[in-house]
Formats: sequence, C-alpha cells, structure tokens
Amino acid sequence: MQKQTLLYTGKAKSVYETDNPDYLILHFRNDASAFNGEKIAKLDRKGKVNNRFNSFIMGKLAEAGIKTHFEKQLSEDEVLVKRLTMIPVECVVRNYSAGGLMKRLGLEEGLALVPPTFELFYKDDKLGDPMLSESTAVALGYATQAQLDEMKALTYQVNEVLSKIFDEAGLMLVDFKLEFGLFKDGIVLGDEFSPDGCRLWDKETKKKLDKDRFRQGLGDVVEGYEEVARRIGVPLE
Ligand code: TMP
Repeated sequence: MQKQTLLYTGKAKSVYETDNPDYLILHFRNDASAFNGEKIAKLDRKGKVNNRFNSFIMGKLAEAGIKTHFEKQLSEDEVLVKRLTMIPVECVVRNYSAGGLMKRLGLEEGLALVPPTFELFYKDDKLGDPMLSESTAVALGYATQAQLDEMKALTYQVNEVLSKIFDEAGLMLVDFKLEFGLFKDGIVLGDEFSPDGCRLWDKETKKKLDKDRFRQGLGDVVEGYEEVARRIGVPLE
C-alpha cells in the first residue's frame, strides 16, 4: 500500500492517505505533548516504542475478539489501519483514582474504584476535551445511545483483557482512554493504545511508567514505556 497525502497531523501521530480509500497509514512521531499542547518535547525512540506497543496490544485485543482498525505494522514507526469515520468522544475507564478524577473530586491518588468507572469526553482540542454526559452526546448527535452502549461495553471488555495482561507483569492498569469509529457501519476500536493514553504503575512500588512521567517532569519517560513493554513481552528490537 502506497503512502500518499498527509491528511492530518495530531500531537503525536501523523495520518496519511493510501492508494486504497479504505486504509490509512499512521506515523508515530517522537513528539510528546501534555496540558492540551502547553508542554511539548521530542523524545528519542518514543515513536518506535509506541508503534510496537500499540501493535502488540491491538493483536491481544483482536485475539480476544475485539474488532480494531489495526491491519499490520509497516515499519518501525508506521502502521496500516482501516479508515474509520471517527466518533468524536473519548471513552475513559478508571480502575484507580488519578489525574482528572482525583483533581475534580479532591481525592487521594490510587483509591480502588469498584466497579471501575466509565467517563466520556468530547474530542475537541480548542475546548481541552471537556467531559460530557451520554445524554449530551446523544442530544448533540455525536453518537447514538446504541453506539454509546456498545462503546462502553467494548471499553470494559478491553479493561478486562488488558488489566489481566498488565497484572501478570506486576503492573496496575490505573486508567486509559479509547477512541472508536465506524467502518462499514460497525463500531471498531481506532486510534492507539500506548503509555501515552493510559496510566500504568508498578504494583509493588507504585512507580509511574506512563505519560505522567512527562506531565509531572519525572524524567526517563521513554525508559518507563520500554520497561512496561519488556515486562509484557512487546518485542522492542
Ligand atoms: P484524565 O485523568 O486526564 O482524565 O485521563 C484519564 C486517562 O485517559 C489517562 O490515562 C489519560 C487518558 N486520556 C488521554 O489520553 N487523552 C484525553 O484527551 C483524555 C481526556 C484522557
């Protein structure tokens, strides 16, 4: 499949059209950004690590019967995916308190959330991805209630599959964000799953091994991602 016009440049990935209208190529760059673009940096190896991480996780989700846009890894920092019509909401599941939830409710970090919570955010950089309710998403035509029900069920299913994988590697999947789209009218998982869009802590030490290392200036950001990758068996070479 031939890489053609640049369609869109995101904060960490660029999206290219291909000679087949049903497929796109995602290029994972070394760019990192946080606080809605206020903090940016280039981090050596990040594109390559996230591409490999994402391919590995998408493979595990496909094995569990979850439909994803992933087709195949093309190079160290590129992947071929189905072209989806994206649904403009982000689905977040939380197993422990951290980040936005902690701030919003004045909680301490790391409280177990039983059952895990599900939240929706409207995907809009200019507005800083605000939280929204299901009924608001339906009323504004962002998604139908049936689509939201399916996305919620899929996000919880992803949580079950991935929590087990990380748990077996001595890691806690604290929270994560997924994005879905439509491919030939069916709901399919899109975007990526990497330490850029989730929180992962060591079970024993609670060491952060995800993008909070970048947000909080803890250093060794990509080293954290690589540690998780090695522990769950992502081939890095
Ligand atoms: P939050 O604590 O900032 O609300 O984020 C919860 C999880 O979802 C965290 O792992 C980061 C991820 N996330 C994104 O990657 N992008 C987003 O736009 C949002 C809202 C969350």
